Amino acid sequence: MIGAGGAGMRAAIEAAAAGARVAVVCKSLLGKAHTVMAEGGIAAALGNLDPDDNWQVHFQDTMRGGQMINNWRMAELHARESPDRVYELETYGAIFDRTPDGRVLQRAFGAHTYRRLCHVGDRTGLEMIRSLQDRIVQLGIEVHMEVTLTRLLKDGDRVIGAFGYNRIDGAFMTFRSKAVIIATGGWGRIYKVTSNSWEGTGDGVGMGFEAGAEVLDPEMVQFHPTGMVWPPGVRGILVTEAVRGEGGYLTNSQGKRFMLEYDPKKKELSSRDVVARSIYKEVQAGRGTEHGGAYLDVRHLGAEKIKKTLPSMYEQFLRLADVDIAKAPMEVAPTIHYAMGGLRVEAETGATTLPGLYAAGEAAAGLHGANRLGGNSLSDLLVFGRRAGEAAAAYQRNTGLGTIDERQVNDEQQLLLLPLVGEGKENPYLLQQELQGAMQDGAGLAREEKSLKACLDRVLELRQRSARIHVPGSRKYNPGWHTARDLRFMLTIAEAIVRAAIERRESRGAHWRLDYLEKDPALGRVNFIAYSDAGRVKLKTRPVVEMPPELAKLFADTAAPPPASRPPASTPPKQPVRR
Ligand code: FUM
Repeated sequence: MIGAGGAGMRAAIEAAAAGARVAVVCKSLLGKAHTVMAEGGIAAALGNLDPDDNWQVHFQDTMRGGQMINNWRMAELHARESPDRVYELETYGAIFDRTPDGRVLQRAFGAHTYRRLCHVGDRTGLEMIRSLQDRIVQLGIEVHMEVTLTRLLKDGDRVIGAFGYNRIDGAFMTFRSKAVIIATGGWGRIYKVTSNSWEGTGDGVGMGFEAGAEVLDPEMVQFHPTGMVWPPGVRGILVTEAVRGEGGYLTNSQGKRFMLEYDPKKKELSSRDVVARSIYKEVQAGRGTEHGGAYLDVRHLGAEKIKKTLPSMYEQFLRLADVDIAKAPMEVAPTIHYAMGGLRVEAETGATTLPGLYAAGEAAAGLHGANRLGGNSLSDLLVFGRRAGEAAAAYQRNTGLGTIDERQVNDEQQLLLLPLVGEGKENPYLLQQELQGAMQDGAGLAREEKSLKACLDRVLELRQRSARIHVPGSRKYNPGWHTARDLRFMLTIAEAIVRAAIERRESRGAHWRLDYLEKDPALGRVNFIAYSDAGRVKLKTRPVVEMPPELAKLFADTAAPPPASRPPASTPPKQPVRR
C-alpha cells in the first residue's frame, strides 16, 4: 500500500481482513494526509434529515456535478455503498454529530439535492483519519513512515513492488509485493495557491504513469471556492464549504450577495466550479476585497452556533488571521483543492491498466468527472479504498512474488543520485516555484489557448532544466534532494494537465475555457487519457463509459443528456492527440 490517508488506510484494513499480509508505506506520517482537508462531511444518502434522499438522487447529483463525463458505474457504486461505509466507520470508533433523536446528523453542501453530509463539526476528515488509524494499529498492520517511493518495479507487464528511499537517512529501500495499491492523493502542489500540504506532489500517479498506467482527465483540476487570502503566509488554506452549508453568505466589496445573481436557486450552495468562477468574475470586475477575494459572512448565525458548528474555522481565523468570524467577515478566494483526474481504474476493483497495480481515492479517477461535489471525496475513499483492498487481496492469493530486475533498481538509484553528483546548477526549489507560478497563471481557473500554450512551453523548458539540478549535501536529512525527485513527477503531471486542457476546447465543470465558453457535445462523450510513450507524455481520447438505459432515464430532463442517449454533434479529436 503506497499512501496512508483515508483511501490507503481503508484499503489496507480490507486487504488485511481478507488475509493478505499488508505493508503501508507513506511519505509522511500515518494519517498525515489531505483527507483531513475534507472538513465539512462525508456524502452518503442516509436520508436522516430528508427522507426523500436515496442512492439514485445521490447518483444523479454526482453525475450532473461531473457534467456527465464521470464513470457512471463508479458513481452508482459510490452512491449505493456510501451509507454502509459511514455506519461501518462508526464501528471503527468515529463519533458523528447527532440529531436530537440520536441519528447521524447531516448538513447541506454544494449541489447536493438534500442535506447529505455526515459530519463531526468541521473536522470530519480528521475524525475519519483518527478512526482508521486506530483500526490499523488494532489490526497490527505494518507501517513504514517517512519513506518516499519513486519507482514501481515490474516483472514483464506486472507490477511486483516499488523502490525508493527513507527520508531520514536517505537509505534506499526495495519492497517486493504481489500487488501494489496507490493511494497517494492528488497533485495540488503543482500550483501556487493550494489547500494541499507539501505531500501533494502527485508521486503515486507519476509513478503509475512512468510504469505505463493511463492517467484519465488530467485537465480537470478543482478550485475550491473558498481558501484563505490574508495574510500571505496562509493563502490557500481551506475554508470549509460547511461555512456555506451552515448558512454563510458570500458578498462583494459593495456588500452585494452576488451568488443570488449567478445561481438564484442554489446560491452559495451551487457547485464548486460555479461558485469559484463567480468569485473570480467579481474580482475581475473590480468588486473584490482588499486582497483580491470575496467576503464570507457568518455573523448572522450568532457566536454560539458558529463556535458549535464551525469550531475549527473559528480558531483558524482567530489564530492565523486575527479575525473573530463572529464579529467580522472572512476574506476568501478560490484555492486548488482536488484533482478529478488520476489513474484510470476499473470501477469494481480499482485495478489500473497494469496487472498487479490498483489505485484508490484521489489518485484514482473516474467517479467525479469534470467536477467533484464536496463530501464525495470522503465517501469515495471509503467505498473504493475498501474495494481496492478486497480486489488486491484476492489477486495476490493466486499470484506468486515476481522477480526483481536489478537494472530497474540501478536505473532509479542513478536517477535519484544525479542531483547530488551532477555538474548542473539548477536549484530544485526555484524550479518548483517557477512551475507553480506557470501553472497558476497559465492553467488555472480561467484558461485559454494562448495561456495554455505559453504554460506548456514553460513546463517543457523547466523539464529540460530539471536535468541539471544540483543539490548540495548528502542523502541525509536533505529536503532539497527530495524536492528534486518530486519535481519530476510534478513536471510530468503538469504537462499532462496542460496538454489535455489545450485539447478540451470547451468549458465543462472545473475546466473553464475563456475562448470556448460553451460545452461541446462531442467532447462530452470523451475522456482524455495521458500515457507514456518512451517517457514522453502523449494524449488520446476514450469514449465515456456508456450508461445503461435504466440509469440513463434518470437524466431525461438534463440539458446535456448522458452518453447513451444522444449522438455527438461534432467529431471528437482523433486518437492520439499530439500538439
Ligand atoms: O470544504 C470542505 O469541507 C471540503 C470537503 C471536500 O473537499 O470534500
